[in-house]
Amino acid sequence: MDKFYCILNYGCQMNESDAEHYAGQLQELGYQSIDDFHKADIILVNTCCVRESAEKRIAGKIGELKAVKTANPDVIICVAGCMAQKDGENLRKKHPQVDLVIGTSYVDSFGRVLREFLEKKHEMRNAECTIKDGSSVDLKKRVKKLPSAFCDLRVNETEFEGQRVRKSSFHAWIPIMYGCNNFCTYCIVPYVRGRERSRSAENILAEVRQGVEQGYKEFTLLGQNVNSYGKEFGEKNAFAKLLASVDAVDGVERLHYMTSHPRDMQKEVIEVVAGSMHISHHFHLPVQSGSTEILRRMNRGYSREDYLQLIELVRHYVPDAVITTDIIVGFPGETEKDFQDTLALVKEVGFDAAFTFVYSKRSGTPAAKMEKQIPLAEKKERLNRLMDLENSISLEKNKSLVGKTVEVFAEGPSKNKNIWNGRTRENKLVLWPCEGKSYRDGEAVQVKIETAQTWLVKGISN
Ligand code: SAH
Ligand code: SF4
Ligand code: F3S
Repeated sequence: MDKFYCILNYGCQMNESDAEHYAGQLQELGYQSIDDFHKADIILVNTCCVRESAEKRIAGKIGELKAVKTANPDVIICVAGCMAQKDGENLRKKHPQVDLVIGTSYVDSFGRVLREFLEKKHEMRNAECTIKDGSSVDLKKRVKKLPSAFCDLRVNETEFEGQRVRKSSFHAWIPIMYGCNNFCTYCIVPYVRGRERSRSAENILAEVRQGVEQGYKEFTLLGQNVNSYGKEFGEKNAFAKLLASVDAVDGVERLHYMTSHPRDMQKEVIEVVAGSMHISHHFHLPVQSGSTEILRRMNRGYSREDYLQLIELVRHYVPDAVITTDIIVGFPGETEKDFQDTLALVKEVGFDAAFTFVYSKRSGTPAAKMEKQIPLAEKKERLNRLMDLENSISLEKNKSLVGKTVEVFAEGPSKNKNIWNGRTRENKLVLWPCEGKSYRDGEAVQVKIETAQTWLVKGISN
């Protein structure tokens, strides 16, 4: 009989990549993908806990699955990812419908863990059936007796030998390192993803080459802090070298990497980008705040001036660089003056886009215990002012594309079937009318830009 799985994915690109690995392992076990989780035999919720809002949304989703479990007690509900790592066994106490909790160090061993769980479940069912002579069994009690949480943060395997089932047929996520050692004082990631560990360049290059053979042409190298790639190998400029070697693989048409920590961004990396035909000129450099004092208390390891110098260096080597950032407003103790420093920095740099967040208290992090936590209303008010400013800058940046012809890789039709969307090498979203035409996934299309909006540009294909 056909067996189906459904993955509900949340969080960052690392989670998207992990989900492709989970999917690969599920397919190896004979499961097929299905979109409607009500019809799945296995539901895997891949979670994020970077902010409280994300956690709340996901907890709501897990709550929704209670009814699914009641309707079909045989469905297996797995919770994986960062929230699973953080809450462990407590998750099952709070949500008894959850069968399996998978910690972030178990991504590679998920297939084995699931197989063991299924065997155990089968054994117990047989045992109970014998005792109770086949009469109805209390499923809830049985599930409670099953082993479940696998939450120790062991160092996991860094080398990848399996298969991924990728969402896209032309763009591939390639994790190059796991974990984070930075301990920014607001951030939960180092606690739930463990210490930094890098994959060997050989293993990464093998996956890229395999991707090319399978028809992939756009690649994103992933890590919480890609610029510290290979530190443990004791090699200087390991990331710059890796970037250059991936760039040199025949068939790699576009190359991205994320995320870069401004403190660790090396001149050598910028030079490799400048000298390459394929590497995106998009630089995502999360600044977090424009105030040196707040940056110090965030433990970011650079000052406002350091950051501005880095931007100058980027623009020196790559004059057409598209620069984006992440910003947190309302960090404990942030004064109006500190916030003004952030606004001024945003104006000075002129970011193409900024992902802006209100500070969210994560218990267990140093910032959660800091004095002068900012009231939510004030944080939101600052966020609005920041967004207003950034939106007007983004619009201006996008307007500068009007009249130009850009190459996009077609991703598919938008809600309106007559309008297609795709992205430029610099990751700008482009919409154009297809006029009855249909494009292959990832097909290169030349689009002449006619109008600009805050988050996208529109044009016509020629
Ligand atoms: N490793 C990456 C991404 C980390 S999470 C990096 O260092 O850039 C992505 C973004 O979420 C961060 O850049 C930060 O802006 C935001 N973030 C992290 N923790 C947060 C918190 N406690 N409250 C609000 N935003 C947070
Ligand atoms: Fe979090 Fe800082 Fe690590 Fe990014 S670099 S994941 S913000 S601790
Ligand atoms: Fe969220 Fe974990 Fe990524 S907390 S942002 S899914 S590393």
